[in-house]
Amino acid sequence: MKSLIRPFYRLLRANPLFQRVLRHELAALGAQDWSAAIVDRFIHGPSGADYGVGAGAKAELAAAFRAVTQHVPSGTAPIVHVVLAEAILSIPRETEGVVVECGCWKGASSASLSRVCALTGRRLVVCDSFAGLPGDGMRRHVGVHTGVYGYYREGMFAGALDEVQANIRAWGAIEVCDFVPGFFSESLKALHSPVALGFLDVDLESSMRDCVRAIWPLLVEGGYLYSDDAGDLDVVKVFFDTAWWRETLDCSAPGFVGSGCGLPLSPSYSALGYARKLGAFEESAWKRAGFLHYPE
Ligand SMILES: C[S@@+](CC[C@H](N)C(=O)[O-])C[C@H]1O[C@@H](n2cnc3c(N)ncnc32)[C@H](O)[C@@H]1O
Repeated sequence: MKSLIRPFYRLLRANPLFQRVLRHELAALGAQDWSAAIVDRFIHGPSGADYGVGAGAKAELAAAFRAVTQHVPSGTAPIVHVVLAEAILSIPRETEGVVVECGCWKGASSASLSRVCALTGRRLVVCDSFAGLPGDGMRRHVGVHTGVYGYYREGMFAGALDEVQANIRAWGAIEVCDFVPGFFSESLKALHSPVALGFLDVDLESSMRDCVRAIWPLLVEGGYLYSDDAGDLDVVKVFFDTAWWRETLDCSAPGFVGSGCGLPLSPSYSALGYARKLGAFEESAWKRAGFLHYPE
């Protein structure tokens, strides 16, 4: 009986209508499949409309993200690539600026980001030492929420420039990429273009400070600086270091959404979070809530 049902079920399962019904049922049971819901929102949601990128192209992107993470060693999960893609596809078309990635290891995240950049007509600027992490004095890193601790060794996560380029050529869109090799404290001085979105996956507090110092002034108003280091409070605290922001960037610290346990990409934990560069408050860009007070 089981073997009779299985082929039908396989066919049914591949049907988008069946998938939607199943998701609806799961949601009604309070047992929503989180990742599926995020991918569904990405594929069927409004992102990409400004660029003529529809559900079919987004489904292809999601499949490509899965493929690259299966073939290239990746420090980021494919669901993270999906969320970053949705963020890039949601940038208004008229917003100027490149996408900057700091920390690419073997180029898995770069390959995915480059595909999205190709669809949106943006350059992807890939910044890395291409020799791995600098030393951080063997500081202990503690993930308070995950209960994990450990150390980073100098040279960890090394991917040579030609290796990264070969991976992007195989799995992404190398023609939209520019490469900025070297340690961030020096190399990022070469950045001058406006930045529409940044993705920082750099593991160390000192590296995060170097990236923020160079990129924040170039980030467009309303722009997002994502990081896959949300679980490490030593890294995240950079975004709350009021004195450092005032002294270094002459503005207040923006904070970091997802501090400690990440954006809700799974019920337990994700490493992804973001800081947003907000301009002057415009009421029309925000929603009102029933539990808050409005003086008028
Ligand atoms: C965890 S890996 C990035 C993983 C990658 N985003 C992925 O999804 O596979 C961290 C990267 O940051 C780079 N990195 C960290 N600190 C750096 C610094 N100060 N200067 C240059 N590169 C740095 C390392 O070389 C490494 O490639």
